[in-house]
Amino acid sequence: MIIDDESSVTPAVLAAMSGGKDPRLLQIAEAFTRHMHAFAREVRLTEEEFEIGLDMLNRIGQTTNEAHNEAVLFSDTFGFSTLVCLMNNGAGGATETAAALLGPFWRMHSPVTENGGSIVRSQTPGPALFANLQIRDQQGKPIPGVEVDVWHSSPVGLYENQDDRQANMNLRGKFTTDAEGRFSFRSVKPAGYPIPTHGPVGDILREQDRHPYRPAHLHFLCYKPGFKTLVTQVFVDDDQYLETDVVFGVTRALVGDYQKHDGPAPTPDVQAPWYTLDYKFVMEAGEAKLPHPPIK
Ligand code: BEZ
Ligand code: FE
Repeated sequence: MIIDDESSVTPAVLAAMSGGKDPRLLQIAEAFTRHMHAFAREVRLTEEEFEIGLDMLNRIGQTTNEAHNEAVLFSDTFGFSTLVCLMNNGAGGATETAAALLGPFWRMHSPVTENGGSIVRSQTPGPALFANLQIRDQQGKPIPGVEVDVWHSSPVGLYENQDDRQANMNLRGKFTTDAEGRFSFRSVKPAGYPIPTHGPVGDILREQDRHPYRPAHLHFLCYKPGFKTLVTQVFVDDDQYLETDVVFGVTRALVGDYQKHDGPAPTPDVQAPWYTLDYKFVMEAGEAKLPHPPIK
């Protein structure tokens, strides 16, 4: 199609792609084209601004490597990841969901750990945390045999893959729920942390005068055939960044009740204060699929 003027570009592109073989892919490509063109028209995008945008896209790719995923961060800081998560869980928004962002730090093959075991694998100073969790179905029945990956940051706000002082797989573990759908573990209370800001996402946050912090949280990935894989986080309720999570990941259902204790702890090696968390997850019926690990 010969382009007459600005207004003929969109229909020309839509016509060019109309032979797409996969109907869903075509629907996405068409809507993406229409919205992208409408965006450029709405802001009357200049050529200099267009170049900056392309450069940013390139830098997102160049900043990504085996240990860092800038594309996930980009989508997270625009609230896009949470939007997609909430649209796709909890019956498409009809009911409250326990699902939340995967984030960029999930690794496969976390060490299998016995129920009640510790996931502290190298010396990690900080208050002890005893977490007791239960997984139930939408009818409230406990689900046994769910494989659960747990991972979280240290009390100084670093994941093991970001910190030479932590052992490989520190603060990561894989559990299986018992006959009552329960699993428990010992760890240390996580701290909030800044998302990495060395790439283009950091430039955007600084330009928008936004802090880079996430409130402290534990991550969970719950997997059992017959149920939709539940990827979620449980946030520490006394965290200063609960209301201003840089990636918009905090939903009301996911604010945990982390109880502080000053008295004697369950094991003699624990010093006060120590914490407990009791939390119940609901898994929806559906297909069990593992996400693509953002890092190795
Ligand atoms: C995380 O919770 O690990 C996370 C999520 C989004 C961006 C950065 C970190
Ligand atoms: Fe995290």
